Amino acid sequence: MEVFALRSLLLGWQCLLLPVWGLDGYTAAVYEHAAVLNPRWKIPSTRQGALRHMKKNLDIYREQVFAASKQGAKIIVFPEDGLQGFHFNRTSIFPYLEPIPDPNVVHWNPCLHPTVYNGTEVLHQLSCMARNGSMYLVANMGERQTCEQSDPKCPPDGRYHFNTNVVFDAEGTLVAKYQKWNLYFEYAYDTPKTVQHAIFNTSFAGRFGIFTCFDILFYEPAVSLIENYGVKQIVFPTAWMNQLPLLSAVQFHQAFATAFGINLFAANQHHPKYNMTGSGIYTPLDFPYYYNSESSEGKLLVAKVPIITSRQNHSLQPEVTAALLKGNNYFEAFVLQKKGEKQEQIGPMERNDPGDIFHNIMMYDNYTFISLTGLKGSLHICSNTLCCHVAYKCSNYTDGNLYALGAYDGLHTTHGTYYTQVCALVKCAGSSYDTCGQNVTTASDIIDFELWGNFSTTHIYPEILADKMKIYRADTRGWANSNYYMIKKGMSAGLVTAALYGRWYEKDCCY
Ligand SMILES: *[C@@H]1O[C@H](CO)[C@@H](O)[C@H](O)[C@H]1NC(C)=O
Ligand SMILES: *[C@@H]1O[C@H](CO)[C@@H](O)[C@H](O)[C@H]1NC(C)=O
Ligand SMILES: *[C@@H]1O[C@H](CO)[C@@H](O)[C@H](O)[C@H]1NC(C)=O
Ligand SMILES: *[C@@H]1O[C@H](CO)[C@@H](O)[C@H](O)[C@H]1NC(C)=O
Ligand SMILES: *[C@@H]1O[C@H](CO)[C@@H](O)[C@H](O)[C@H]1NC(C)=O
Ligand SMILES: *[C@@H]1O[C@H](CO)[C@@H](O)[C@H](O)[C@H]1NC(C)=O
Ligand SMILES: *[C@@H]1O[C@H](CO)[C@@H](O)[C@H](O)[C@H]1NC(C)=O
Ligand SMILES: *[C@@H]1O[C@H](CO)[C@@H](O)[C@H](O)[C@H]1NC(C)=O
Ligand SMILES: *[C@@H]1O[C@H](CO)[C@@H](O)[C@H](O)[C@H]1NC(C)=O
Ligand SMILES: *[C@@H]1O[C@H](CO)[C@@H](O)[C@H](O)[C@H]1NC(C)=O
Repeated sequence: MEVFALRSLLLGWQCLLLPVWGLDGYTAAVYEHAAVLNPRWKIPSTRQGALRHMKKNLDIYREQVFAASKQGAKIIVFPEDGLQGFHFNRTSIFPYLEPIPDPNVVHWNPCLHPTVYNGTEVLHQLSCMARNGSMYLVANMGERQTCEQSDPKCPPDGRYHFNTNVVFDAEGTLVAKYQKWNLYFEYAYDTPKTVQHAIFNTSFAGRFGIFTCFDILFYEPAVSLIENYGVKQIVFPTAWMNQLPLLSAVQFHQAFATAFGINLFAANQHHPKYNMTGSGIYTPLDFPYYYNSESSEGKLLVAKVPIITSRQNHSLQPEVTAALLKGNNYFEAFVLQKKGEKQEQIGPMERNDPGDIFHNIMMYDNYTFISLTGLKGSLHICSNTLCCHVAYKCSNYTDGNLYALGAYDGLHTTHGTYYTQVCALVKCAGSSYDTCGQNVTTASDIIDFELWGNFSTTHIYPEILADKMKIYRADTRGWANSNYYMIKKGMSAGLVTAALYGRWYEKDCCY
């Protein structure tokens, strides 16, 4: 993995962004937690019952903090809903909630001063864990806040319920909290009145931003923290339900970190039966991650990460020169063709049988596809104003396997509303066109590819997913002639999905 990462640094980022990191990094931990759940019919209705339930999860957290501290971790991240689990409504969540004072207003160490606020047993426990393990601790929990009926937004039961991340420093002081902005059908919780850009500062690595799960798909607060607040490191509790072929946790979270050149510490829940697994420590150098749909156990990931201190604006991606693309024949030819330059040295674009064009629903969106034919070739397909191109070469092809290039430029409206522009080379689940876009996790075909498209958005997340949920980073990627491209050669595993997942945030609201 290191080799790939370095190659992408040398090639892809040469003229884009070379973040500067200190020689010394630090050690970070994320814990993929198999939260002890309460079956729906057993959800406790008393505070004592809720505390008994959460104690089972807190005990596991404590063991993990201990294990992480033995490995020198300076920070640990636990997943969303990790203390209480799922399946709550507004009534049943109530005994789990705690009042959480605003750390910008009060300086409070719950481990040292447990009785300042009533009903804060969980905060107390988390604070003591951080203190005892001498590390920053990030956890997600339920928050309650009483409100006045004069407040027009105040719910009828007189209180707000928030899905909240809390951060404790290594002494156990509460240093930040963040109330989730983009709720994902969480009827037990309220959306806060305003979006929060929560940032905390640390002695060992400077500033960190924080957001939760579904937030990562939206401009506010996720992208805004990076682009407007200069955050380069993010802690990210999540309870992410994998959705293939484009939005599995490891695949999208790694792509997000890569796109911005940041450190992203993603702690997921571990519940394979809800399609929840996939956590990682995604950095510009390396991206150790964990995915396991067989085991029922949690998993502690610990890794050394670089401190990113670059002051550069990562959203600026200057055009690459044709020289950088030399040897990547199809895309190079495309660029030169567009520029009207002579291209005798390259030779004409190879012609191949044009594939068949068809429509299929992939992840609830109506994609236009073109099938790949033969062992190599180049194809393109368009959707609205987006045209996607692929040039490919299979070095290990099994007869009967079908791949297709899909394009989608439109508003996604199922399980959330957001505008996407996507170019995706996918392995189809079977040998007929109607299986293209379905959930696939295995592949044996080794494919070199160049993938590009004329996106209207600058926010593009480059994903490469291979056999058995392996993820890769592109050899090169960037902009040339108003096209965003990525190139990958010499993978050692079969290709499942290669996608440029674009988000056109400006079109989310006003389609
Ligand atoms: C919430 O769920 C409980 C069962 O867990 C049920 O008894 C109660 O009626 C539900 N309340 C609401 C407001 O839906
Ligand atoms: C905590 O609760 C007790 C009893 O319910 C009450 O007397 C006390 O004032 C409360 N303290 C705070 C800080 O709210
Ligand atoms: C503090 O951590 C030590 C191990 O470092 C452990 O033995 C002890 O039980 C912990 N104490 C508390 C209160 O968590
Ligand atoms: C962050 O913390 C470091 C070390 O404690 C300190 O030197 C620095 O000034 C702080 N930065 C901000 C923005 O508070
Ligand atoms: C980075 O550049 C983008 C595009 O020019 C601009 O919108 C954004 O405000 C810049 N951010 C910072 C932190 O300079
Ligand atoms: C993919 O499909 C398999 C079998 O149909 C299923 O077990 C698995 O949960 C699915 N995975 C995802 C991420 O959708
Ligand atoms: C897991 O993913 C598979 C395939 O996408 C889907 O059929 C199944 O319903 C998902 N499971 C849950 C609990 O959502
Ligand atoms: C997808 O779009 C095509 C072209 O607009 C249309 O013919 C087809 O009916 C659509 N499919 C579905 C399932 O909506
Ligand atoms: C993308 O390319 C197609 C075909 O050349 C063109 O029709 C379309 O307008 C282009 N889209 C943009 C945003 O330039
Ligand atoms: C190539 O394909 C064959 C047959 O599917 C498979 O046995 C072999 O492992 C593949 N090679 C690689 C490098 O994946």
